[in-house]
Amino acid sequence: MRISDKLGARLQELGVELRPSVPLSEKTSLGIGGSTDQLLLRKFETIPDVMHLLANENIPHRFLGGGTNVLIVDGELPYVVLHLPTSQPGMRVEGNAAYVDAAADLGGMVTFCAKRDLGGMEGLIGVPGSVGGALRMNAGAYGTQIGSHVREVELYRASTGKLETLRGDDIRFDYRHTSFAPDDVMLRVKLELPQKPFKEILAAIKICNEKRRASQPLNQKSAGCIFKNPPGGSAGRMIDELGLKGHRVGDAMVSDRHANFFVNVANASCADMLRLIDEVRERVRVTYGVELENEVIFWKN
Ligand code: EPU
Repeated sequence: MRISDKLGARLQELGVELRPSVPLSEKTSLGIGGSTDQLLLRKFETIPDVMHLLANENIPHRFLGGGTNVLIVDGELPYVVLHLPTSQPGMRVEGNAAYVDAAADLGGMVTFCAKRDLGGMEGLIGVPGSVGGALRMNAGAYGTQIGSHVREVELYRASTGKLETLRGDDIRFDYRHTSFAPDDVMLRVKLELPQKPFKEILAAIKICNEKRRASQPLNQKSAGCIFKNPPGGSAGRMIDELGLKGHRVGDAMVSDRHANFFVNVANASCADMLRLIDEVRERVRVTYGVELENEVIFWKN
């Protein structure tokens, strides 16, 4: 979707930087996705006005965080993509509290806090993506989930058209699911973290990194796990048991390292990846009677 020069000028007055025709394959860890105009929201306080303007002009939009858990359709997209700028996101620590912008890199936040002797998030170290994306999905690994540490979230709520602050107790954090509305935009979080010497945190981080390197295809293009684990089960183990590691549709392939990671081995299309997801889901359903639910978020037209 293209923004007209006239609207572009008005958005610029609100501190928005417009980048025309950006291939989202360059903004996603899967390396898949069509093109559209990208709007960088440089000032939180103007977000309500920007949203109001887009709504008045009937411009559909989606918010892209780190792009690490999303599968985007190919071709010219019928919506613009909004983005919080990722250069120098705010992070500060005060006692046991960390205040972090949603655009910050999740791993960067873990190490920033670690260096200030705040731990508790060691398991999240290798989870790719932004703090905002991690909040929305309640990202977790190796026994840690970000939601357990959240005390406050500042966000833009599309339902009220306002910037609001929610208390951690008022947000539900479940397994890879939260009570945020789909069109809520995470802006900043306050976390409460336990004091821990940097050396101890570093040792725990190293163990998590080693486990991850041994079991996940970290140097290939993927969106992490494709499916959520079913209650009491493991999607990766079931897909592996079916002998589907290495199974391909075009350039989309079930990783031969971890069967719940689907990788783009070269130039996979979105259609390739979707077919692979459907084929695997069907094989699991027929054999195990389990309907796997996507963890990856699909942006269709
Ligand atoms: N397994 C296999 N074959 C495989 C993959 C796994 O047999 O190809 C077995 C493992 O041996 C293990 C069990 O399945 O006994 C579980 O595997 P793993 O420990 O790798 O964890 P997972 O349940 O597959 C979850 C998260 C990961 C997170 C890891 C580590 C989900 C969907 N996945 O994976 O998160 O990194 O635990 O805590 O919850 C993600 O969310 O994108 C993600 C990668």
